Amino acid sequence: MPNSVRAVTRMDAVQAPIIPVVGDIIRQVPGTISLGQGVVHYGPPAAAVDAVRSSLSEFAVHEYASGTGQPALVSRIAAKLAAENGIDTARGSAIMVTAGANMAFMHAVLAISEPGDEIILTVPFYFNHEMAIQMAGCRAVAVPTDANYRPDPGALARAITDRTRAIVTISPNNPTGAVFPETLLREVNALCRDRGLFHISDETYEYFTYGSARHLSPGSLPGAAGHTFSIYSMSKAYGMAGWRIGYVAYPADLTAAMLKIQDTVLICPTAVAERAAIAALDAGRPYCDPFVRELASIRQIVLDALGTLGSICDVPPAEGAMYCFPRVATSLDAMTLAERLIREHKVAVTPGTAFGMTDGCYFRVAFGALQRETVAEGIGRLVTGLRAICG
Ligand SMILES: Cc1ncc(COP(=O)(O)O)c(C=O)c1O
Repeated sequence: MPNSVRAVTRMDAVQAPIIPVVGDIIRQVPGTISLGQGVVHYGPPAAAVDAVRSSLSEFAVHEYASGTGQPALVSRIAAKLAAENGIDTARGSAIMVTAGANMAFMHAVLAISEPGDEIILTVPFYFNHEMAIQMAGCRAVAVPTDANYRPDPGALARAITDRTRAIVTISPNNPTGAVFPETLLREVNALCRDRGLFHISDETYEYFTYGSARHLSPGSLPGAAGHTFSIYSMSKAYGMAGWRIGYVAYPADLTAAMLKIQDTVLICPTAVAERAAIAALDAGRPYCDPFVRELASIRQIVLDALGTLGSICDVPPAEGAMYCFPRVATSLDAMTLAERLIREHKVAVTPGTAFGMTDGCYFRVAFGALQRETVAEGIGRLVTGLRAICG
């Protein structure tokens, strides 16, 4: 008998991406409304599409280009980081354009770790962060948050060992919608500085805050440049998820490591997508703001509807991103609940277990893709389903 080429690999320990798993069940039940995937319902600014069209006749966009990112895009990003995030990249940071924020995170993990190192995530975590850490041969150390899904600096400090390399925060948060207060992010950033760790700050949802919640970039804090990764995405704010552009401001002394990773994994970002990104950044936040205002009212409809469920469903404050993360009073496990909601009520959510919440039944509601016409129907089905299954 020939030996099998199939061996145990590092990938066996990595969870399967949850979105396609839920997507498979959705496909079996036509007419399901998805509150599953974190996407927006709008596309990029017209100027971004025009920029791509007009660039196609230029030979340069068909060639390999700068691994860091096209100079025009990198300087546009530097200006945006200075003006909006308070990050002056002249004070010790470098910028790299990547094929999305997920890639920037993977680059960061590879650049700062050795196999066997530990990276601290707050739970619930973003599943792709856990997956990236495991793929790098490192260990994701999951530290619980409080009842409002805010990290506890004391618990983070107690989780630090000799192998810890970084603490990750996501604010505004996926999957909870929590926006971490400035004082908390200052504390986490100072903890990292004092203990010789990196702070990886995922700010994919920087523009998506509601009410009085405000976003802070920890990379803007005095002395943060040397140990802070600030990660951004064009996917949500500009409706450009398919174009695959994100960027990261990172400690400049890691440039050689970051370039090795980029050169091996991506070589350079997709040139036409970079052209789209320049035009989108020129359109800027004013392009995104009306959509965020619309999402604010959709979010309110979602929270009000879930509020009618009383003790069946507890919804901690969700003041940002495009998610809320209810805790359900049921003995069912989250995957069973999610599957029954699809099969019996034609509405899809993402089970909390994918985000590391194994103690109790939680799920994520994503409302970014909903428009006024579908929100009532989608959330109505969810409320009816939860009453029927858990009431
Ligand atoms: C916290 C967070 N980071 C990164 C990403 C991925 O962004 P990108 O499309 O830029 O890779 C997402 C997408 O849902 C996210 O929620």
